[in-house]
Amino acid sequence: MMQKTVHSFLICFAIFATAFWVFQDNQAIPGERSHQTIAPQRDTDRLVFLLQYIGQDYGAAVGENGVINQYEYAEMLEFSQQAMDWYTALRSDQMVDSTFSNLQALRNLIKTKASWAKVQSLTRVLIRDLASELDIRTSPEETPSLAKGKSLYRNNCAVCHGLEGNGNGSAAEGLEPAPNSFLEPDYMNEATPYRFYNAIRIGIAGTAMPAYGHAFTNQQSWDVAFYLMTFRQGFSQQATNEDYNLTLNDLATKSNLQLVQEIVDPPGRRDNRKFQATLATIDYLRQHLE
Ligand code: HEC
Repeated sequence: MMQKTVHSFLICFAIFATAFWVFQDNQAIPGERSHQTIAPQRDTDRLVFLLQYIGQDYGAAVGENGVINQYEYAEMLEFSQQAMDWYTALRSDQMVDSTFSNLQALRNLIKTKASWAKVQSLTRVLIRDLASELDIRTSPEETPSLAKGKSLYRNNCAVCHGLEGNGNGSAAEGLEPAPNSFLEPDYMNEATPYRFYNAIRIGIAGTAMPAYGHAFTNQQSWDVAFYLMTFRQGFSQQATNEDYNLTLNDLATKSNLQLVQEIVDPPGRRDNRKFQATLATIDYLRQHLE
């Protein structure tokens, strides 16, 4: 139900972003053809954010036995087309062939109702490649401060998302869609600070979720994004001796599930002891970033 609303608003957000480009084109320096050599940072961030959404939400559209939700599926088709269009518009004559063909491949995976794992891993490749092609930072410059994140959260976000992160802030009543809760393990274990960071800076058009790209510095947005990860039910603060040699970039761009899958081979079931122990260590590392 909530998933559904997320999507319809993303369409508004997509339309809004396209309109933004058209507007920018009109603002081009007089006498110059409006081909942009490099797109403004905002628009490249939007493209990454769109791919992050596809990677996350495809699981609600297609399951092992085909389409689970026709509405979600139609949106995935639309978003994957949108990603190709955006990339073409952003890069015009400087498109990198491998990026474009991967975007096409993503669309084909969705058309043929491929598995979520395949779609998710291709969006990850694309985001990694786009980040290097477009020179986008995918992790904070400085170690994020959870304490600062917490205080920013209390002053700006709790009114909607709730002090405990459960989505029940005093201003949440009557909002449609409702502000989301950061407690559910299934949702939070698929989340990444980098996606939260983009949501915080870009906002979600058509919902009450504001854009903080001007109000916060990039570092502040990272502080909050990392803080959000600590709300998950069962988030562990148990000390550990392991560190798995994870970098700050790993912790920023990879979900808990992705990290567990990379560390534990084979990953095993989610109620498996090894799986839970690894997750607890990752939680601890997310809590002790220094
Ligand atoms: C006025 C209410 C309001 C405020 C203030 C607000 N949010 Fe939101 N937020 C929302 C709503 C509504 C959504 C959209 C939920 C949906 O689409 O289902 C949302 C969505 C989000 C998402 C997207 C989650 C996802 O999985 O993509 C994140 C992250 C988020 N908010 C974080 C924050 C943070 C951090 C702050 C403070 C800096 C904040 N929000 C302030 C209402 C608010």
